[in-house]
Amino acid sequence: MPPTPDAASVFVTRRIPEAGLEVLRAAGIRFEIGHDDEESATPRPVLLDGVARHDVLLSLLTEAVDREVLERNPRLRGVSQMAVGVDNIDLETAARLGVPVAHTPGVLTDATADLAFTLLLAVARRVVESHAYTLAGRFTCWGPNLLLGRGVGPGPDGTPKTLGIVGFGRIGRAMARRAAGFGMRILVSTRSPETAQDAPGVEVVEFDELLRRSDFVSLHVPGTAATRHLIGADELARMRAGAVLINTARGTVVDEAALVEALRSGHVGGAGLDVYEREPELAPGLAELPNVVLLPHVGSATAETRDHMAVLAAGAAVAFARGERAGNLVGGG
Ligand code: DGY
Repeated sequence: MPPTPDAASVFVTRRIPEAGLEVLRAAGIRFEIGHDDEESATPRPVLLDGVARHDVLLSLLTEAVDREVLERNPRLRGVSQMAVGVDNIDLETAARLGVPVAHTPGVLTDATADLAFTLLLAVARRVVESHAYTLAGRFTCWGPNLLLGRGVGPGPDGTPKTLGIVGFGRIGRAMARRAAGFGMRILVSTRSPETAQDAPGVEVVEFDELLRRSDFVSLHVPGTAATRHLIGADELARMRAGAVLINTARGTVVDEAALVEALRSGHVGGAGLDVYEREPELAPGLAELPNVVLLPHVGSATAETRDHMAVLAAGAAVAFARGERAGNLVGGG
């Protein structure tokens, strides 16, 4: 006999913050945690077994929720992902099967924009190199030419630096607010220019112009087939000599091998990356470069943000389990 809606259960692919599990408990929803490890993804057999035995999947971006997973359970009522990005989920198959997919937009906007701006400052002012220099006991004397970086603010001659923001959704707009506070000139390239109309001090330009004019380029587009290698060898070559690239969006947006070459040649002056093309692998040569700051995909990693993400994701899972419509649907059926 098929389970009744009230007996529906949730498969939580990996342990999420307690605040989210509390939502499931308070709703009286039975759940199982597939994998309880911060540093490894749910093994594929565990995922396949779990999705087959439960009615709702609460997923993380580390698992491929592909056709095989989605087709594993004809009773699947929904997938609720604890992330805003859903590039790990086969939305087309979900739509074909009538499986709704929810995600967690909004709550991670500020945390992610904070981290993007942190990377921008860290690369510009060579913060990580300077830290390593100090720890290595090399700081023996203040030097007029020691560890010189790039200015982010207008600086002594009052000329503003230019930030190019690619993609102007919630996080792109939050990045613009931060840049405005630093007195930067802000260029935006977006497929929906109307979203920039109410943003003060923002100039909407074509993508090519943005590459040509920006001292810093920050990426804020989703990882989709259309944005794959949006920044490749040609685009890197069209960037201003010495410009800095920041990526807190998805690794697939950048051709990482081409980026390594452009950084090696010095044409691209530096990069701050939180995401990677074949995450968690780094492209050969990337880690050896002095002009990069590399983080382990921690854009949304503040305790309060992760709690909010877990609560949102669990809320959608409860709605799916009860046969109700969840908020924050991103696709699927
Ligand atoms: C997301 O939500 O898509 C981020 O990459 C992780 O929080």
